[in-house]
Amino acid sequence: MGLGYIGLPTAALLATKGYKVHGVDVKADVVETINKGEIHIIEPELDAFVKSAVQSGNLKASLKPDYADIFMISVPTPIDNENNPDITYVIEATNAIVPYVKDYNTVILESTSPVGTTEIIANILKEKGSAKDFYVCYTPERVLPGQTMRELVENDRIVGGLTPEAAKRVQKFYKTFVHGEVLVTNCRTAEMSKLTENACRDVNIAFANELSILCDKFGINVWELISLANRHPRINILKPGSGVGGHCIAIDPWFIVAEGKEDAKIIRTAREINNRKPLWVIEKVEKTVKEFKQKNKKEPLVACMGIAFKPDIDDLRESPSLHITKDLIKKGINVLVVEPNVKKYPGLSLTEYTEAIAKADIILFLVSHKQFKDVAIPADKTVIDICGVRSKY
Ligand SMILES: NC(=O)c1ccc[n+]([C@@H]2O[C@H](COP(=O)([O-])OP(=O)(O)OC[C@H]3O[C@@H](n4cnc5c(N)ncnc54)[C@H](O)[C@@H]3O)[C@@H](O)[C@H]2O)c1
Repeated sequence: MGLGYIGLPTAALLATKGYKVHGVDVKADVVETINKGEIHIIEPELDAFVKSAVQSGNLKASLKPDYADIFMISVPTPIDNENNPDITYVIEATNAIVPYVKDYNTVILESTSPVGTTEIIANILKEKGSAKDFYVCYTPERVLPGQTMRELVENDRIVGGLTPEAAKRVQKFYKTFVHGEVLVTNCRTAEMSKLTENACRDVNIAFANELSILCDKFGINVWELISLANRHPRINILKPGSGVGGHCIAIDPWFIVAEGKEDAKIIRTAREINNRKPLWVIEKVEKTVKEFKQKNKKEPLVACMGIAFKPDIDDLRESPSLHITKDLIKKGINVLVVEPNVKKYPGLSLTEYTEAIAKADIILFLVSHKQFKDVAIPADKTVIDICGVRSKY
């Protein structure tokens, strides 16, 4: 259920391992594309897997579920406007399979979910379905986009069973296509484990981002500071940047905060610090623009270097650097937008990076793309390096 960034690679991998896979998505164009042996998302190697899976007859996509031994759910789990988890898609996908789940079938939730979701889907199946004895598990996904096909096989996996028997069965299933270790626990621990992994990254990034703001206040080079502190044998501070983006780390910690409320103090604060960082960057640019105008009696041109959410990728989802760039434009600042990993973006005109450096007065490095590391910058330019791409440390 769900043939996106997680569901489709999983379906294609299973089909190439010999399983008969009936892939379901609610989008007709997604189903049509897959049945032609083609893909609708960008992921290295996925095209070859899907082509071979469809050609072999083992992978068929459909708008409707069917009877199966194992049901896997990989649908979106976003947050709403108040940062509360929205599990509507999981509920809808569960309702859709209710008529097809028979006794001794297995239902596996892979979507990143708030603690308790696996129990919710088990209750729906019990209350609305005809099966009395079935197995329900939560098995979170932790692949890195861009490396999905490799990590699906190599990563260790956690299987959280609603019952120990369910966990044992699902562990056996994953062991048929995963080379990493398949570790067994209960479903609540597995749900919290996935959220913990992303919250841990978020908290560590927030620490680095807070340091960068403090160092700016204290007149200290944060990159030098971190490289010195990291010489301590047990310290490993991450690099600050323009905030936190993507559709996982910027979202999943809220699932803990929504349920944990006043007890989720560090996790909530980390989210707030990382969300504030782009606003701090915007204020810094506005101040620099003002100073430039006073000194040079003209409006400066600002080059926004990078709008992706992290280095060397084309993914712009929840990207803080994209948010910064759009906000500077909205504030009437003259901006050149640079993103070497993207050909076009609706509503923004992109400039090649060397041209932007030549034309701009202020060079704002937002993302550490490899192209920006050694490019020559004339001495008369003002440089604001938010991501440390120009730092020697
Ligand atoms: N993409 C990642 O790198 C990643 C990594 C780890 C975990 N996750 C988690 O995995 C889950 C899926 O993420 P994704 O990136 O694959 O999302 P996605 O948006 O790429 O794909 C989800 C698919 O589910 C379909 N869908 C929605 N409702 C449906 C329904 N009722 N029945 C059938 N299909 C339905 C959508 O049309 C879409 O094609 C999310 O919970 C996400 O947080 C994603």
